[in-house]
Amino acid sequence: MTNQKDTLYQTVDGLPGSFRFDARVAAVFEDMISRSVPGYQQILQLLPTLTRAFFRPDTNYYDLGCSLGAGLLAMHTGFDQRNARLIGIDNSTAMLAEAEQNLSHLNQDTLKLVLQDLQDTDFEPAQMVLMNFTLQFIPLADRQALLERIFASLHPGGVLVLSEKLKFSDADTADLMASIHYQYKKDQDYSELEISKKRDAIDNVLIPETLEEHTSRLRSAGFKTITPWIQNLQFISLLAVK
Ligand SMILES: C[S@@+](CC[C@H](N)C(=O)[O-])C[C@H]1O[C@@H](n2cnc3c(N)ncnc32)[C@H](O)[C@@H]1O
Repeated sequence: MTNQKDTLYQTVDGLPGSFRFDARVAAVFEDMISRSVPGYQQILQLLPTLTRAFFRPDTNYYDLGCSLGAGLLAMHTGFDQRNARLIGIDNSTAMLAEAEQNLSHLNQDTLKLVLQDLQDTDFEPAQMVLMNFTLQFIPLADRQALLERIFASLHPGGVLVLSEKLKFSDADTADLMASIHYQYKKDQDYSELEISKKRDAIDNVLIPETLEEHTSRLRSAGFKTITPWIQNLQFISLLAVK
């Protein structure tokens, strides 16, 4: 994977307007997400283990909002040479072009990359659906229906892995998490200008929700067991098992 350093917001006029997953972002995305989301690499490191724990042969493993293909690669590692299909979906041409290159060494007969809006996806039967920091970019009003379609596609015992940035209803907790996260980004060599410009650009594009809102939506979509398996500051990953 290309690992160009993210310098997009280093200047006052760098990358104006709302945040978009375009070619400039795709070129630095691995660095951007690793330096912005504490625990992102931890999720990728543990995904092969999770895939082995839930593995069922001869079915599909989805990565929704697959970006550069990091989640698909991690699930593929968990297959341990056994037979299963990977399907990555993303509506960003630039992201998918990079993913194609990054996954070109995998068996192309068992890999499908689809340029598509998730709202238009007809899901095939699946054992694992990964949504690693993607639901937060789907309009709020569309999230329930999407999760219901994912639930319907899963085999009994199949799992949705849902990673999201959390909102906190308690103001003190929200401030505490935001201030530690601010320090995290400074520790990752982002300047105050970069942090504030990125925050302004992504405001109204990334819409976080509380853990309670996620849990109740997953429950009403039909998921029986819902539990956090990883949390770093306000970045959580949930397992929702059918
Ligand atoms: C934060 S990134 C996800 C990171 C990626 N899952 C990973 O683990 O590296 C969000 C991705 O979701 C895609 N996306 C956002 N809204 C989408 C939609 N409605 N349909 C399909 N893809 C979408 C974006 O293009 C972007 O690549």
